[in-house]
Amino acid sequence: MAGPLAGKHVVLGVTGSIASFKAVDLASKLVQSGALVDVIMTYGATQFVTPLAFRSITHREVVTDTYDVSSEFANEHVALARRADIVVIAPATVNCIAKLAVGLADDPLTTTVIATAAPLLVAPAMDANMFDHPATQDNLAKLRSRGVAIAGPMPGRLASGLMGMGRMVEPVELLGHISAALGRSGDLSGRTIVISAGGTQEPIDPVRVITNNSSGKMGYALAEAARDRGARAVLVTAPTGLPNPPLVEVVNVRTAEQMALAVEEQVTVADALVMAAAVADYRPATAAEQKIKKSDDELSIDLARTRDILATVQGSFLRVGFAAESENLVANASDKVRRKSLDLIVANDITDADSGFGSDTNRVVLIDRQLNVEELPLLTKYEVGHRILDRIRDLLAKAD
Ligand code: CTP
Repeated sequence: MAGPLAGKHVVLGVTGSIASFKAVDLASKLVQSGALVDVIMTYGATQFVTPLAFRSITHREVVTDTYDVSSEFANEHVALARRADIVVIAPATVNCIAKLAVGLADDPLTTTVIATAAPLLVAPAMDANMFDHPATQDNLAKLRSRGVAIAGPMPGRLASGLMGMGRMVEPVELLGHISAALGRSGDLSGRTIVISAGGTQEPIDPVRVITNNSSGKMGYALAEAARDRGARAVLVTAPTGLPNPPLVEVVNVRTAEQMALAVEEQVTVADALVMAAAVADYRPATAAEQKIKKSDDELSIDLARTRDILATVQGSFLRVGFAAESENLVANASDKVRRKSLDLIVANDITDADSGFGSDTNRVVLIDRQLNVEELPLLTKYEVGHRILDRIRDLLAKAD
């Protein structure tokens, strides 16, 4: 099943830094994601990692020398530039960034960059003092103003032993940055999509909560899909075990009431709200201030209703809900469309093993305001996200 990088032609530029070895992992992850990866190494990079390391992973020739007559790119040194869907430089040294800012073309990598029309993503890695230097800051600002995407650097312990800004963004996160850069001018660019995710936690006392089995995966995948089509994706999330998706704005909440307040704040500028969160319908009427001690007696907890976010939040944005049903899927979900006045509902049968909580796949039925029913096949949650976003795009275009 296809992800955002499948079939994409990625030119991976590697420059000389102790972070160069992480580029081997990045190349591997790109290949696993279905991308075609051509690696260009500077002389400096070859002092840290061998071209063979990359070739073993990409199964393609690694470019190290503009004037290598035996190279398949010898006669046409800009062939990669033309073929690229994106050029990624990871790690990018301070020297490489300076060359890019000026527009120099004195090695195979900078020659490719100056010759390509593809988007460019740069992941700097350097010592903190080099990063802080006004020359570097000016160079990065210049690149940004030209539309170059800059990922990182991150704070942390540097090779010099210093703590500071300069670590390269981790390869797994760079995948998100690359997907986002590829989709920057996608069909949802200029749109803001607010997505809720995860299962809310309603406190019983300072250590105990009432919650549910939601993994948050569907909402997170939706946020990534929206990001990868150029949208501003805002994820209002209850606690999950999932990492924050790069370039998605994350608002952390815990309870249904906190989620309601955060959603209300975020939707003021939204084009669509997608409530993928499993919001508790009930919460303990009062949360004990101190930890409840056990005794031999039975214990019961009074529950109070939470407010329904989707049904009550005000504003003129598209409303998309989810319905997790264990029986009468279409009838129950259609009823929710009417009751909550939704533009679209995404219904799934939670008794289906492929679509259960925590699964990476989902088989859903989409039901619109007119109660038209579209059954989707078993798809990854990321692909389901795109199908939902296709419908949102069409509905938004109609409303314009
Ligand atoms: N929802 C919400 N606020 C709540 C509860 C649910 O916004 N307090 C949203 C969910 O995020 C989801 C949709 O409403 O998008 C689910 O509708 P709901 O009728 O609450 O579904 P269930 O909780 O499954 O309802 P029921 O128990 O009646 O099946």
